[in-house]
Amino acid sequence: MLIGIPREPDPAQAVVSATPDTVTKLIRLGYEVQVQSGAGDRAAFPDQQYAQAGAAVVGDEVWDADVLITLDVPPQELRERIRPGRVLISRMAPGRHPELVEELESRAITGLAVDAVPRISRAQSMDVLSSMANIAGYRAVIEAAGVFGRLFTGQVTAAGKIPPAEVYVIGAGVAGLAAIGTANSMGAVVRATDLRPEVAEQVASMGAEFVPIPAAAERSEDGYAKEMTAEQAAAAARLYTEQSAATDIVITTANIPGRAAPRLLTAQDVAGMRPGSVIVDMAAASGGNCELTVPGEVITTDGGVTIVGHTDLAGRLPAQASQLYGQNIVNLLTLMTPEKDGMLQIDLDDEIIRGITVTRARIDREGERPRVVADVLWPPPPVQVSAAPATGATGANANAHAAGAAAGSGDAAQMGADDPEADAASGNRLGRGVWAALGVLLGAGLILASPLAVAGQYVVLLLAVVVGFYVITAVTHALHTPLMSETNAVSGIILVGAILQVGSSNWAVSALAFLAIVVASINIFGGFTVTHRMLGMFRRDA
Ligand code: NAI
Repeated sequence: MLIGIPREPDPAQAVVSATPDTVTKLIRLGYEVQVQSGAGDRAAFPDQQYAQAGAAVVGDEVWDADVLITLDVPPQELRERIRPGRVLISRMAPGRHPELVEELESRAITGLAVDAVPRISRAQSMDVLSSMANIAGYRAVIEAAGVFGRLFTGQVTAAGKIPPAEVYVIGAGVAGLAAIGTANSMGAVVRATDLRPEVAEQVASMGAEFVPIPAAAERSEDGYAKEMTAEQAAAAARLYTEQSAATDIVITTANIPGRAAPRLLTAQDVAGMRPGSVIVDMAAASGGNCELTVPGEVITTDGGVTIVGHTDLAGRLPAQASQLYGQNIVNLLTLMTPEKDGMLQIDLDDEIIRGITVTRARIDREGERPRVVADVLWPPPPVQVSAAPATGATGANANAHAAGAAAGSGDAAQMGADDPEADAASGNRLGRGVWAALGVLLGAGLILASPLAVAGQYVVLLLAVVVGFYVITAVTHALHTPLMSETNAVSGIILVGAILQVGSSNWAVSALAFLAIVVASINIFGGFTVTHRMLGMFRRDA
């Protein structure tokens, strides 16, 4: 199939949907690629580089391609150039643009909304919203530093002490965490607040202090925030007033999918800020988190507070934004081109592909003559995920809970009545008790039946099994890699012991020693292989 990469029609959009690097990867998937002349100019990718990568550099005929990849939905006059049965891959916000969905249907175009990729681990490499938010979060801090009339980092000089700038980030999602990391690396003292209490650990790991909203909040099950209760909203408003008055720079990134941006900073809050302070409102495009934000503009209030309302933060770093967007698309098309034969396959059983498919074109053979029509597949069914770590409940229980919540109120009511989670938990406890009793009986039998000389060693072995089980199951996932090194060391000891025993005259001892050598070797060499692959991920040339 032929992929077309048009020039983005909006002159303010410097990002392009493919770079020379990602064009090479698309060609490796079996596609032919056409790039409209000048498409990459604003991101510093001249036509010549695309031609060297193997693309044909063309004019307006790019719109005749089988698959069109753009950043934003092209305007009406260009959409009309897309022929029935063709595919448009773009950021579409279909939930907010029902008229676009209708148009794609009526014009029989397959629409794939890359901004609708579900937030699940498997889809991370295709998540264009996260890619753009990450770059925008970085840029927000750079913009703030540009208008803030002071240093970020604290200094002790011969002429006196300069305190570090204080940065307060509201909303610790992708953009917020990127902003925290950037401000922290520039030497500022950073604090952050989020509606979702589970992000506190991530905030701390980026070097900031988490300031919780002093009102009960629920853990998120899909990685996105829910609307606040009245109690939370009042507590949050008080917190934002206090924090903004005590901070030099406030970066707001609060966002709830499918809704206008929550209003967090009132005109009164801004009036309470020190002169020279800066607000970067990242949600400017969706209504703004600050009452005084003017989308697309930088304003300074009478009180001397500068409010940055740029809506093109990612586009201000166009080369990297284009590379990340283009790579997200390559990852998506890798999933959709399983045979690497340049044929796009829309497998609706795959939850990622189903999640982004807004309309799907097909040939209708029922009438007098076959004709191309499109079915509307928006909205997709909810993806059942749990972004929150299981607390107290087992993993299975937590997933069941998430699934129940997603299934709707009817099912939830049913769950409440029969309480299958409680049944499952008590079933698990019973099962574990039976296994523990069997283990104790077996251990006791083994000790009683063995000669006195080895009975003591069996006792040590059994105690080690029990202690090991409780220690290892209590280790958090984040520490599994160091735990693996530990088991490698233990396997090394086992290997030495087994080599000493393998030549024993007793065949049972030899067989057990041989088995121990095999298993311990697998653990050691497997560990080295995994470590080698992980280190490879951090190599610059990888
Ligand atoms: P996200 O959904 O990953 O993060 C938003 C965070 O805000 C979530 O952690 C959520 O829990 C939190 N939140 C929601 N309501 C809150 C409240 N009342 N108080 C405290 N926290 C609250 O979103 P992402 O990807 O980080 O994007 C953030 C914002 O940045 C969005 O509005 C997005 O549209 C915008 N954005 C702006 C760009 C620009 O050029 N200006 C570029 C890219 C993204």
